[in-house]
Amino acid sequence: LKAGVLISGRGSNLLTLLEACAAPDFPVEIALVVSNRPEAGGLSHAQRFGVPATVIPHRDFPDREAFDRAVGAALEAAGVELVCLAGFMRIFSPWFPARWANRILNIHPSLLPAFKGLHVQQQAIDAGARVSGATVHLVTDDLDGGPIVAQAAVPVHPDDTADTLAARILKAEHALYPLALRWFGERRVRLVPQPGKPDRVVI
Ligand code: GRF
Repeated sequence: LKAGVLISGRGSNLLTLLEACAAPDFPVEIALVVSNRPEAGGLSHAQRFGVPATVIPHRDFPDREAFDRAVGAALEAAGVELVCLAGFMRIFSPWFPARWANRILNIHPSLLPAFKGLHVQQQAIDAGARVSGATVHLVTDDLDGGPIVAQAAVPVHPDDTADTLAARILKAEHALYPLALRWFGERRVRLVPQPGKPDRVVI
């Protein structure tokens, strides 16, 4: 399975995906990395693994859909079948999830559907949550609301700050994302429609 990874920054999740895909028996190949920011640290990871990477600056485009179509064209040209968001900090126009329906994954640093949007580690602390974690989900029009593919829980400690909790969740992300990607590569992911609700994922 050919995957494309979209990033905006540090790229630690990208790195774990590159490492996983470098294993000879891993059923996924990363065909392209796209960043909307030229300074994204993750670009150097792609280079180190010999994976093609390209920068598509969102500011070069008049609107969201024009940017999304440019990203989509680059992914298509690379033969990408599955798109992995890894710290990609842009919200799509409706065009992108429609064009790539059920073929976009995201990793989010909370146990969805709890704590959507930004600063979710602080949201978990402020809510007094005793556990939080990471979620891999399919991307739909509903921000952070698409079908849940995989989750991993971590404790929230009484003395946690957003930073200490984020670091603990990030470790869980690094274990979870390659696992979820493997399931897609092995074509083990089935979607069960639930009328009026997000599809349920069955592995
Ligand atoms: C991760 O916490 C991810 O869950 C969130 O953004 C962060 C990206 O980190 N969507 P990195 O760029 O993969 O290091």
